[in-house]
Amino acid sequence: MTELDRRSLLAGGLALPALGLGTAAEAADDDRYWREIAGQFTPPADVVQLENGNWGMMPRPVFEAYQAQLARVNRDTSFYARRGMNRDLIAARDAAAAAMGVGADELVLTRNATEALETLILGYNRLQPGDAVLYADLDYDSAQACMASLAHRRGVQVVKIDLPEPATRAAVIDAYAAALAANPRLKLILLTHLTHRTGLVLPVREIAALARARGADVIVDAAHSWCQIDVAIPDLDCDFVAINGHKWLGAPLGVGFLHVRRAALGRIDRHPANAAGGPDTLFARVHLGTYDFAASLTVPAALAFQQAIGSARRAARLRALRDRWVARARQVQGIEVLTPDDPAAHGAITAFRVQGVTASGANAALAGRLLERHRIFTVHRDGIARGACVRVTPALFNTPADMDRLAAALPDLVQFARDRASPN
Ligand SMILES: Cc1ncc(COP(=O)(O)O)c(C=O)c1O
Repeated sequence: MTELDRRSLLAGGLALPALGLGTAAEAADDDRYWREIAGQFTPPADVVQLENGNWGMMPRPVFEAYQAQLARVNRDTSFYARRGMNRDLIAARDAAAAAMGVGADELVLTRNATEALETLILGYNRLQPGDAVLYADLDYDSAQACMASLAHRRGVQVVKIDLPEPATRAAVIDAYAAALAANPRLKLILLTHLTHRTGLVLPVREIAALARARGADVIVDAAHSWCQIDVAIPDLDCDFVAINGHKWLGAPLGVGFLHVRRAALGRIDRHPANAAGGPDTLFARVHLGTYDFAASLTVPAALAFQQAIGSARRAARLRALRDRWVARARQVQGIEVLTPDDPAAHGAITAFRVQGVTASGANAALAGRLLERHRIFTVHRDGIARGACVRVTPALFNTPADMDRLAAALPDLVQFARDRASPN
């Protein structure tokens, strides 16, 4: 490493070591660098935390920025709210829009991805009775429920498909192509870019192009993808995207984003709580009321932390942690890895199943075994057409040793599942 490489990289008050000029993949193995990054987090000491999909841990500088914002909001209350807070919230939104690669007027802060998805699904105003809408088994439960509610809200036919398993990009594209062909009145599709159930990354851009050719719009749930994989929002080439801030961006709990492309704004209803005559902006599509402003105000600090690492390097590191346990898991008899190894089809999250063990309770028991016997925390996921699984989600503070510990525990899980299935 050269002297230049050793220089500290300052970003938003953070002092992080700079990396050499190698590729992102090479940087993924730079242990010294990643130890420094891990040192910015405070994971629990008594358990290997491999369930980082629920929400992300704020690194220390972001947590401190949040505490400072909270202190200010609490101290100055309305004196700040009425004299400058709005300007700071807009600056936070603008910084996020720039990081995502979208226009500032095409992004609005929400409190979470659920709120953004609800705004899009329930506010989409182009549906006519008799049209069809589509979602899949791997989509997020509350988003599925919103899509299903369109049957009574809009009088549409609701179509649900099961995504292929094992999945390939081609097979997933074929599944949506077949659904479009079978349902000529399909007008709206929900696509989860990176599914929380198995970690599968969908070829959103390709599916959206198929949908567009048949006159259907696509709503993208990017709650798990932005900042987990190396993606800019325009890469998706979609008009409507819901994004999460408190997962992989590492912002405080209570941060989400809604992106609507300028030309598509009219397809989403204004929020009824906003005055009817006001300007026709994306802001008019949401109504947050009074909420945790400090969380939104911390977005620039979270962006600064991520930008100091770099999107490609972060994604490569997460992928390397994932690949490390998966390579060994694929050699363990009785373990099925559900998430494809195609680098375009996964990020950090990957799910596995003990062959034949598809019940939700049995997978909860496997996650329980991992915790109790091996002190590794994961979570079981269900709702997958072919059966439940255990989900593994490393974060930037995890180490290669953590992944090895998980891999080493897998044969015990196979035996545990066998013993449960035939107790004597
Ligand atoms: C794929 C996906 N979409 C949407 C959401 C909703 O995010 P939030 O709970 O932050 O609203 C989640 C949360 O886990 C998710 O995994």
